[in-house]
Amino acid sequence: MTARSENSGTGGGQDDHVSSRAPGGNAGGEVVVQLNGIRKVFRQVLAPEQRPGMFARLFRRAAPASGPSGGSGGQGAACARDSNDDAKDACLEGGVEVLSGIDLTIRAGEFVALQGTSGSGKSTLLHLLGLLDSPTGGVYRLLGRDVSGLSDDELSRIRNTVLGFVFQSFYLVPYATALENVMLPGMYSDLSQAELRARGLELLGRVGLADRVNFKPANLSGGQQQRVAMARALLNRPRLILADEPTGQLDSATSSEIMRLFSQVNQTGTTIVLVTHDENVAAQAGRVIRMADGRIVEGRNDDAPGGADSNASSGAANGAANGAGRAAP
Ligand SMILES: Nc1ncnc2c1ncn2[C@@H]1O[C@H](COP(=O)(O)OP(=O)(O)O)[C@@H](O)[C@H]1O
Ligand SMILES: [Mg+2]
Repeated sequence: MTARSENSGTGGGQDDHVSSRAPGGNAGGEVVVQLNGIRKVFRQVLAPEQRPGMFARLFRRAAPASGPSGGSGGQGAACARDSNDDAKDACLEGGVEVLSGIDLTIRAGEFVALQGTSGSGKSTLLHLLGLLDSPTGGVYRLLGRDVSGLSDDELSRIRNTVLGFVFQSFYLVPYATALENVMLPGMYSDLSQAELRARGLELLGRVGLADRVNFKPANLSGGQQQRVAMARALLNRPRLILADEPTGQLDSATSSEIMRLFSQVNQTGTTIVLVTHDENVAAQAGRVIRMADGRIVEGRNDDAPGGADSNASSGAANGAANGAGRAAP
C-alpha cells in the first residue's frame, strides 16, 4: 500500500481530493509516519557543499548516488544493514552518529514543527522522512509500509506521489517558468499534459500567483518563489508535506504569508512536518517536537493506537499540544 492509488484521482480540485481523507483535527487519524529506533550515522561529516545535491535527489528517478565517502544515502555495507552489533560498532567507530533512537508517530492531519539548534539533526531526520536518505538502523513505516529495502525507482515514485517538499532555498529550475516548475513532478502523475497544465494553473492561483505563471524564478520575489515551490509540492496531491526552514530566507511579513499557506494546506487534511528554528513559526503548528544532539527531547507523543491525544489535532488549532511531550530520556 503506497497510497498512490488514493492519490491518483484525475480531475477535481485540491479540495475534493483531500475531502476523502482525514480532515485536519481528526485526532485518531491514520498513522502517516512511524519511526522506531531510528539511527543515522554518517561515515564522515561533509561540509554542506560536499553533500549530494538535493535537486537531483528530489526530482530524478535515480536514488542518491553513493559518493566516495559513502555520503548521504550511500551507506557502506557495514552501516546499511544494522544486522549485528559488530556492524553497528564498526559504523559508529568510523562515523558520526547524528540521529539516535528516534521513536516518533505522526498521524494524518497533524501539523508538526521540528525545532532544535543548528546541527541537532533536524534536516537529517526530514531527509529520512522524505526518503532522500536512509537510516543506519531502526524502522521507518510510511503509511504503514516499511520502506527499507525498496528499489530506487519505488522510492522515487513514493517521493514524488505521496510526499511534497519545500526547502529554504526553493530549488526551482531557473530557466523554467513558474508553471513549468509546478508541473515538474508531473511525470509521476497519471494526468495528461493538458490536465497537468490545468492543475498547475489552479495551484498557482491557489497560492496567489495567477498573474505570474509565465515568470521565471529570477523575476519573482523570494516569497513568490516559495509559493511556486509550494504549488509544486501539491501537484501530485501528497499525503505528507516536508518543509525544511521554508521561511528561512524570507522577511517576517512574507514568512507569515507562507505560514498561512501551510495552515491552509493543513486544514484541507494534508499532514505537515516543518523544520524551523523560529519560535513564531513553530507556534503555528499543532505540535512542536524539539531535538537536541540527534534525539527528540520533547513532543514525541508515542501514543498507543486509540490513545491519540490532543497532540494529533490540526495545526490550525494553535499549539494545543505544545509541550505535551515527554521528557528527554
Ligand atoms: N550528508 C551528510 N554527510 C555528513 N554529515 C552530515 C550530512 N548531513 C548532515 N551532516 C551532519 O549531521 C549533523 C546534523 O546535521 P543536520 O541534520 O543538517 O542538522 P540541523 O538541520 O538540525 O541543523 C551535523 O553535524 C551535520 O554536519
Ligand atoms: Mg537543517
